[in-house]
Amino acid sequence: MNALAHLFKNNRLWATSLTETEPDFFTKLAQQQAPDSLWIGCSDSRVPANQIVGLLPGELFVHRNVANLVIHSDMNCLSVLQYAVDVLKIKHIIVCGHYGCGGVKAAIDCRPHGLIDNWLRHVRDIYLQYKEDLDRKADETERLDRLCELNVRQQVVNVGNTTIVQDAWARNQSVTVHGWIYSVADGLLKDLGLSVSAENAVFDLWPAT
Ligand code: CO
Repeated sequence: MNALAHLFKNNRLWATSLTETEPDFFTKLAQQQAPDSLWIGCSDSRVPANQIVGLLPGELFVHRNVANLVIHSDMNCLSVLQYAVDVLKIKHIIVCGHYGCGGVKAAIDCRPHGLIDNWLRHVRDIYLQYKEDLDRKADETERLDRLCELNVRQQVVNVGNTTIVQDAWARNQSVTVHGWIYSVADGLLKDLGLSVSAENAVFDLWPAT
């Protein structure tokens, strides 16, 4: 017996329930996608992009990786970003971190984790920049939560500094970058108030004060 048979069963139920309320849902979707937002989030299974913002297939363009990082040499993330901005003409880019992020935690726990440590060095760089401030927090959870927020801030800056977004702004294309954080403990999102829609505003975001 197929160990994953239940997933196919779930899939049939899901597709049926969607077409019951809107019979041509999939036929319309097959013609085109027109999402107005790009979501850049963590791969963590507890942070499913579409579900937590209540959006259907076709309504959100998504890129996820460990610790929701936007690295200037990451062709995967940059390709998603370019397609979203240049082709789909999305209006919003949401960088969404989450409290209790295992990637962020692993970045500073001083134990080896193998190859992924190279990826997580980007988070450790943020920790080192704010070490004095972060180490002053006696509570480890509080320290980790603050680093999760700083990580979102850095990635918002990184998105704003890409040639893709800068070129969009230069041609007056409307694109706003947002920094949000999600709590796996209560299922709620928080806007960190980092929204930027122009190059000058990006410079104001870093370093954090
Ligand atoms: Co995470």
